Amino acid sequence: MTDISGPGPATPVDMAGRAGLVTGASRGIGLAVAAELLRRGASVTVTARKPPELEAAVAELVAGPAGGDASRVLGLAGNAGDAPSRDDAVARTVATFGRLDVLVNNAGINPIHGPLMAADLDAVRKIFDVNVVAALGFVQLAHQAWMGEHGGAVVNIASIAGLRSTRAIAAYGASKAALMRLTAELAAELGPCIRVNAVAPAVVKTRFATALYAHDEEGVAARYPLQRLGSPADVASLVGFLASDAASWISGETVLIDGGLLATGGSD
Ligand SMILES: NC(=O)c1ccc[n+]([C@@H]2O[C@H](COP(=O)([O-])OP(=O)(O)OC[C@H]3O[C@@H](n4cnc5c(N)ncnc54)[C@H](OP(=O)(O)O)[C@@H]3O)[C@@H](O)[C@H]2O)c1
Repeated sequence: MTDISGPGPATPVDMAGRAGLVTGASRGIGLAVAAELLRRGASVTVTARKPPELEAAVAELVAGPAGGDASRVLGLAGNAGDAPSRDDAVARTVATFGRLDVLVNNAGINPIHGPLMAADLDAVRKIFDVNVVAALGFVQLAHQAWMGEHGGAVVNIASIAGLRSTRAIAAYGASKAALMRLTAELAAELGPCIRVNAVAPAVVKTRFATALYAHDEEGVAARYPLQRLGSPADVASLVGFLASDAASWISGETVLIDGGLLATGGSD
């Protein structure tokens, strides 16, 4: 279960009156990011494919220290890879909250492991469709619906796998590298009123990453200078910062959040 308690009272309440949309937010990093935006005072739409988990996440957000008000949380079931779902998510966010200031492209998939020479190309296409094309689709819609006229901040959830070779998950890594490049291109095209940034986490303890650490968490964590794996809240506080006005002169950047791993040349 995702711990969404967050860093506590030190979090600034600097997004009051704003609205965010976080894709893939029924658990893990997306859920923690949604909690962070709520804690900062924003209203938030959360999406995921499976309605029961999404409903539970909405209830958790509303009941948690960050929410406390059902009118500030909207759950919309849908696949980020489907254009009608994206249309629905953006349109209903603006219809419900009257605006869309923060878009967090968090939904990401990695259905294949193993060498590229054995990769199923339909699966590779699907990875790029959800991890890259869908993120662009969401930005286009957010731009049309609100940000083009009023400005905003986009944060894309990339990965350290996009920065150096990870063999077993190479197609996923290539998609995250593309997402980082897309981030920089969007920042160039959408300034000065829309900022676009990305974060690149190493292993964060979520269901998605279980196969990377569950067999030997202590051993995997020992490779990190900070001697522990990431938590969803670690990533959420960085995303909250990048989405906030405190980051108003940062755009086109991918911020590595990896417990020091890459600095050592280490691999997870
Ligand atoms: N955990 C890590 O170590 C790590 C490291 C670097 C980057 N990341 C990135 O962080 C992001 C979130 O990963 P996570 O670790 O938090 O995963 P997670 O705990 O498995 O959560 C994934 C969330 O996304 C939803 N989701 C998955 N595919 C979706 C789709 N096609 N459309 C809409 N929602 C979808 C899931 O709900 P449903 O299944 O109901 O759709 C769930 O809410 C991903 O982009 C991942 O690549 C993770």
